[in-house]
Amino acid sequence: MTPEDWDFAVLKKQILRDAGFDCNPYSDKFLKRRFDIRMRANNVGSYREYAALLKRNPLEHTELIEALTISVTEFFRDPDVFEDFKKVVIPKLIADKERKKQKVIRVWSAGCASGEEAYSIAMLTNEFLGPKLDDFTLSIHGTDIDDGALANAKRGEYTPEELEKIPEAYMKKYFSFDGKKYKIDEGLKRFARFEKHDLISGKPYRYFDVIFCRNVLIYFSREAHEKVHMLLYDALNDDGFLIVGKTELLHGKAREMFVPVGEKGIYQRPSRFPRPSREF
Ligand SMILES: C[S@@+](CC[C@H](N)C(=O)[O-])C[C@H]1O[C@@H](n2cnc3c(N)ncnc32)[C@H](O)[C@@H]1O
Repeated sequence: MTPEDWDFAVLKKQILRDAGFDCNPYSDKFLKRRFDIRMRANNVGSYREYAALLKRNPLEHTELIEALTISVTEFFRDPDVFEDFKKVVIPKLIADKERKKQKVIRVWSAGCASGEEAYSIAMLTNEFLGPKLDDFTLSIHGTDIDDGALANAKRGEYTPEELEKIPEAYMKKYFSFDGKKYKIDEGLKRFARFEKHDLISGKPYRYFDVIFCRNVLIYFSREAHEKVHMLLYDALNDDGFLIVGKTELLHGKAREMFVPVGEKGIYQRPSRFPRPSREF
């Protein structure tokens, strides 16, 4: 271990001890890039100096954690994935619900940032179901570890620039404009709720029909990937869907457990007890 590696390891431990933020799930490459950004901003040249600065100025923890949990997102990010969500995932899911005579649809946006993903899901489900929406209870659960992002998600207010990629018809139907900001329509907002939750150490969730976990794990180590993918598997109902980032791969056991649906990061958790085929 070089002296620099040693200082890096000490810095990670110190951040956990002093700020309660566990750096271990993140890949070292990602952490080093983010530490470097904060070190440059503070004009310090080594991990050891940065650790000393954090001791002197605990407020720097907030800046650092913000840099580590980058919350970049947008409505309908990767539109072709949302197209498949609307054309493939929702129809399959609704047919399954109708066959099983189930009324509740539960979707989890894991690492939801400021809520754009959750509200995009709400808009598309609303569009697909139309008046049939009243036959179902739709609940979209957005979770994140970033308090600021969650507060924005709960507020549901966005600038015109943030709405740039939204079809005009959706803007008119699902938002109201107060001259400065677009506010999500209350009728749509009621389907979404937001909660603080850490994917690595948080309580396990269950009984979701669809989980979006996109552009969250890209900063995590391989072990953390494997762990979270299996947690997400356990959180899904039979026949439920997992949607990861378009370029993200499943790791570990999850690769064998999930079945890919197309090639855009959409996977299905197969039924534990396969149904007899129609011919019999
Ligand atoms: C780049 S954003 C992705 C937002 C959205 N899923 C998308 O694809 O547009 C990543 C989000 O993951 C959140 N995040 C990072 N680590 C997390 C963890 N351990 N548990 C839950 N959320 C986490 C960050 O706070 C950030 O808001």
